[in-house]
Amino acid sequence: MDVFRTIADLRTWRRAQTGDVGLVPTMGYLHEGHRSLVRAAHTSDDRTVVSIFVNPTQFAPGEDLARYPRDEARDLALLDAERVDAVFAPNAGEIYPDGYCTYVDVGRLTARLEGASRPAHFRGVTTVVLKLLHIVQPRRVYFGQKDAQQLAVVRTLVRDLDVDVEVVGRPIVREADGLALSSRNVYLCGDDRAAALVLSRSLALAAELFDAGERDAGVLRARMRSLIAAEPRAEIDYISVADAETLDELEVVAAPALVSLAVRIGGTRLIDNTVLTP
Ligand code: PAF
Repeated sequence: MDVFRTIADLRTWRRAQTGDVGLVPTMGYLHEGHRSLVRAAHTSDDRTVVSIFVNPTQFAPGEDLARYPRDEARDLALLDAERVDAVFAPNAGEIYPDGYCTYVDVGRLTARLEGASRPAHFRGVTTVVLKLLHIVQPRRVYFGQKDAQQLAVVRTLVRDLDVDVEVVGRPIVREADGLALSSRNVYLCGDDRAAALVLSRSLALAAELFDAGERDAGVLRARMRSLIAAEPRAEIDYISVADAETLDELEVVAAPALVSLAVRIGGTRLIDNTVLTP
């Protein structure tokens, strides 16, 4: 497995490749969710590239950029074992050199949900994703459905800017007890780990009510809210039942709906979601 630190070296490697290249963009501290993206890339692409870059522009001041979990040696060993062909692991100066001043903004979709709570977040995500797509020139790029809004925003970026890449979304990978895998789960200590199950439980409740015929989005939100309110360690940021494509909040679920939520457990902000299909 080759590990590249500079854009120039990655490009030299890329020019020598024939066949399809798949890109899995990550911020490292890899888990089974990332592994499932790598395996999906192996299935469809001839070469798999994983990027590891904790992107500073998607963190607001006061967020967890400095303490975001990092373990590059462990990540590289995991990717080597997964037979990844190349890793792109630049430092911040390589991606944002002195004088850097160009950003990409996807309108509409980015103002709500995660974007409402983290205003500059998606601008940072779309900027770095577009840069990675230009650098790696993949045929396919892989994202987890766990960050459902990110996936929708990237699909919009690729469509609106005519980027010649297929965006592949892959299902959420969960622990046996339902907790969605996230690099940030490492922050959950003591009783927070058990309390964090309110996210997946509230989504399971929404799915159960929906399967029993409930179509009133307000009722689904309210029932999720009361379940989470019973957990003293949980503080709700948002609960949403929205159109799965436009992310507009729904009154009635008549088309596929993205049920998503962000909840603070202790000091850790967690997100999770599911899709309800009538
Ligand atoms: O989902 C992530 O890990 C990040 O947002 C991404 C897509 C790698 C961009 O930094």
